[in-house]
Amino acid sequence: MKAKQLLSIALVGAMSASLAACGSASGSSTSTAASKAEEATSAPAEAATSTAAAATGDQTVGIAMPTKSLERWNRDGSYLEEQFKKAGYKTEVTYSDNKIDQQVKDLEGLVADKVDLLVVAAIDGEALSEVLQGAKDANIPVISYDRLIRNTDAISYYVSFDNYKVGQLQGQYVIDTLDLDNAGDKTYNIEFTAGDPADNNATFFFNGAFDTLKPYIDKGTLVIPSGQNQFEQVATKQWDTATAMTRFQNILGSNYSDGTQLDVALCSNDSTALGVTQAIESDYAGTNDVLVTGQDGDEQNLANIIDGKQTMTVYKAVANEAVATLDLGIALLNGETPDDKLISDSGWDFDCTYDTESYDNGMGVIPSYLLTPTVVTKDNIQKELVDTGYYTMGDDGYPHPVQ
Ligand code: BGC
Repeated sequence: MKAKQLLSIALVGAMSASLAACGSASGSSTSTAASKAEEATSAPAEAATSTAAAATGDQTVGIAMPTKSLERWNRDGSYLEEQFKKAGYKTEVTYSDNKIDQQVKDLEGLVADKVDLLVVAAIDGEALSEVLQGAKDANIPVISYDRLIRNTDAISYYVSFDNYKVGQLQGQYVIDTLDLDNAGDKTYNIEFTAGDPADNNATFFFNGAFDTLKPYIDKGTLVIPSGQNQFEQVATKQWDTATAMTRFQNILGSNYSDGTQLDVALCSNDSTALGVTQAIESDYAGTNDVLVTGQDGDEQNLANIIDGKQTMTVYKAVANEAVATLDLGIALLNGETPDDKLISDSGWDFDCTYDTESYDNGMGVIPSYLLTPTVVTKDNIQKELVDTGYYTMGDDGYPHPVQ
C-alpha cells in the first residue's frame, strides 16, 4: 500500500498561508535553512511538544550518526538535534568515526543511559542486531534513519529518501543529457562507481541507475570498457574518497590510456564522485568534459559543479528528513502506531510517501517514510539550494551549507 500526500491537499488555514508562501514559484525566498526547518515544523512540533510534555516530562532522544568524515552526517546530526530540542526533548548525539565496534559501543551507552527513543544511521546495516535487541528489551523504540538496519526486529520504522529513485534520477540525467534515445550508431563510454556494501542504500542507488541505463547498455549505445557492471566490482568501501580515486585511476590506466574517450562517470554519491573527479584530473588523457554524477550536495562537489568538474548531484533535503523523523519520533514516544496518516496529520511542506513494500530488512518489511530527491545542476543550484535557504552563496561564488 502506498499513500502520497502533497502539500496542496494537506494544508488548511494559517499553515497553508505560510507554507504556500514557502513553496511559491517565485524562488525569491531569503529564509535560512534553520528558519525553513522551523517554518516546516512549527505547527506539528508545537502541537506535539505540548502533548509530549504533558505525557512524558523530560524525555531523551539518542541520535547515533555514522561519522563526521562524510559531510552529510554532520548536517543530519545538527538538524535532528535542533528539531528534537526545539520540540522539548533532550538529546544525546554520537558519531562513531565509521567504526562498527565504536557504533555498537555508542549504542550500548545510549541504551544504558535509558534514552526514550533511538534514531540510528548505521555504519554497517548487518552489525547492530545484538545491541538493538538490548534496546528492544528495554522498550526503547528505534527509528532506522536513512540507512535500513537489517536482521533485527527491534526497529519499527524507517525514514529515508526514495533510494532507488536517486539512482534512477542519475541514470535518466545521463539519458537526457546525451540524448541517448536519438544516438543512432553513436556510442558512449561509461564507468560506474557505487557505495559501501555494508550500507543497504548502496545497492538501491546502483540498481536504480543501472536498471535505468541497462536498455542502452544492452543496445550497445552505452559501453563499459572496464567491463565492471556488477555492484560488487564497482563498490567503494565506506564511501571513501581516496578509495574511489585509486580504483578509478586503475580503471583509467587499464582502459583509457590508449586514448579511449570516457563520456560518463556514474558515481552513486558525492564522496565517491570527488575521488573519481580527482582521478580524472590526474590520470585522464582526454580533453572532453566527462559527465560526472553524484548525490548529497557536499560543499566541494557543489564547487566542482560550478567549476564544471562535476555535472550534477542528487540533493536530498536532510532538514526535511529530520522533520519527518521528529514527527514520527513524537508519535512513537506517545505510544502511537503511526501509518500513512502521519503524513497528512503533520502537514509537511515536502513530498513523502508511506511505503509498506520496498524495504524488507530480513525479518520483515519495515514501514517506511520516503522523501523525494531532487536533481541539482549548475543551472538550478541557486533555485534549489540557495533560495530554499539550505545554502548561502558565498562571496567566493560558491554555495556553502548553512548547517
Ligand atoms: C546516504 C547518502 C550518502 C552515503 C555516504 C548513504 O547511506 O544515503 O546520502 O552519500 O550514505 O555518506
